[in-house]
Amino acid sequence: MTTRMLIVDDELKMLAMLERTIAGELSDFEIITASTGQQALKRVEHHPFDIALVDIRMPEMDGLSLLEQLKERDPLLTVIMMTAYGAFDVAVAAIKKGAYDFITKPFDKDALVLLLQKACERGRLLRENLNLRERIADTERFQNFIGTSARMQKIYETIQMISRTDVTVLITGASGTGKNLAAMAIHAMSPQCQKPFVRVNCPAIPEQILESELFGYRKGAFTHATQDKKGQFQAADGGTIHLDEIGDIPLSVQTKLLLAIEDKEVKPLGDPNSMVVNVRVIASTNCDLKAKVAAREFREDLYYRLNVVNLRMPTLRERTEDLPLLIDHFLSECCRAYDRPRKQLSPELMQQFLTYPWAGNVRELENVIKRAVVMAPADTVHAEDIGWEPSDPMPKTGSDAPCLQPYHEAKKQVLTAFNRDYVSQALSASAGNVTQAAQTAGMERQSLQQIMKRCGIKSEEFR
Ligand SMILES: Nc1ncnc2c1ncn2[C@@H]1O[C@H](COP(=O)(O)OP(=O)(O)OP(=O)(O)O)[C@@H](O)[C@H]1O
Ligand SMILES: [Mg+2]
Repeated sequence: MTTRMLIVDDELKMLAMLERTIAGELSDFEIITASTGQQALKRVEHHPFDIALVDIRMPEMDGLSLLEQLKERDPLLTVIMMTAYGAFDVAVAAIKKGAYDFITKPFDKDALVLLLQKACERGRLLRENLNLRERIADTERFQNFIGTSARMQKIYETIQMISRTDVTVLITGASGTGKNLAAMAIHAMSPQCQKPFVRVNCPAIPEQILESELFGYRKGAFTHATQDKKGQFQAADGGTIHLDEIGDIPLSVQTKLLLAIEDKEVKPLGDPNSMVVNVRVIASTNCDLKAKVAAREFREDLYYRLNVVNLRMPTLRERTEDLPLLIDHFLSECCRAYDRPRKQLSPELMQQFLTYPWAGNVRELENVIKRAVVMAPADTVHAEDIGWEPSDPMPKTGSDAPCLQPYHEAKKQVLTAFNRDYVSQALSASAGNVTQAAQTAGMERQSLQQIMKRCGIKSEEFR
């Protein structure tokens, strides 16, 4: 890669000599010259440079003001000042203003070449570092999500696509997979992002109050209704309402909700008239809404009305390749939050983290790392520090330990979890090719398909 260098000096003879010397010694340097500060600023406007060699004493704009303006335009530019012999005070002033180094005139050719080589290396590192940070910002993060797996990329794409529209979205996925984050991201990227985002945690509100909480009431609607109250739909007008854990709402509220979504109208309790609201609805649940529909616990028409777009958040097991990134992210976040020196996991614990089933998904991972940061005495966290057995591939700790279930029930659960994990991994490795996954697993294609059917796993999800 060529290094672009700018030399600025008002003495034309000096300029020519420098250009010749440097070009002769450093063949990968592309050199451009300028004889005034103004000319130099014009040059940098058109092309970024890696290094600038600037004479301090120049008429009109002197070297120090040029240095300031150059750094303002490109803080990564490496600037070397040329000073007269003995003018240390100016040289120090230049360093304070952001110059990388200085060289005194008349200079030794070898010293100059060495300095330029060092400056060149520094510039390369700085730019690489910046690229890395930009890359992290761009590809490892999306809103507040961390993850670069194909599964997450697909989620980011879908969120980006639907955030531009006002369609109703149903976010599904196991506990702790980021459903709340997804709802917030859709709103944050929507044209309505400046308008309210209102989240209603449905199961937290008693059944009798949920209706008035959502749609509001008029004074006198019931005994304690001493004044009008706005519902959450009105509060979210113009923006987004996130109905969290929608699966648990009573049938009576489901009917009103259907009307609110279909007609964009809500009727406060005790009000003879309805009012128009313009709200994008995002619903989320970790239960199987279809099964609830089949059991007649959830209105089918509401299900279809909500499920215009379905965003299914993958479990951690389905995107194990994101684990190292997530671990690193939570370690640095927690250490910063608790003001601890940066900790890391021992290689053995890292291995355990990579194979642990993480039934509570990202939330469980985050909590275990929080515990690790608080409990581990040294900078390296070991399994014992967080109450895990070093040899236990599926550690059970304190409050996370399951209650004892009947033997058959417990065995069935472990088997199902094992089947799901195993088959998901085999299909991930074969990019969704069932024949190939069956070969790797050493089983008949049909047997694998039966297990997939029992576990509700579809090969398309791994392509
Ligand atoms: N991809 C991710 N990157 C970083 N943090 C994440 C990611 N997914 C989830 N989290 C974090 O994990 C925690 C749980 O996420 P969130 O509350 O969105 O999950 P959820 O699916 O709504 O869970 P629940 O079903 O229990 O309500 C939060 O602290 C969230 O910030
Ligand atoms: Mg949630």
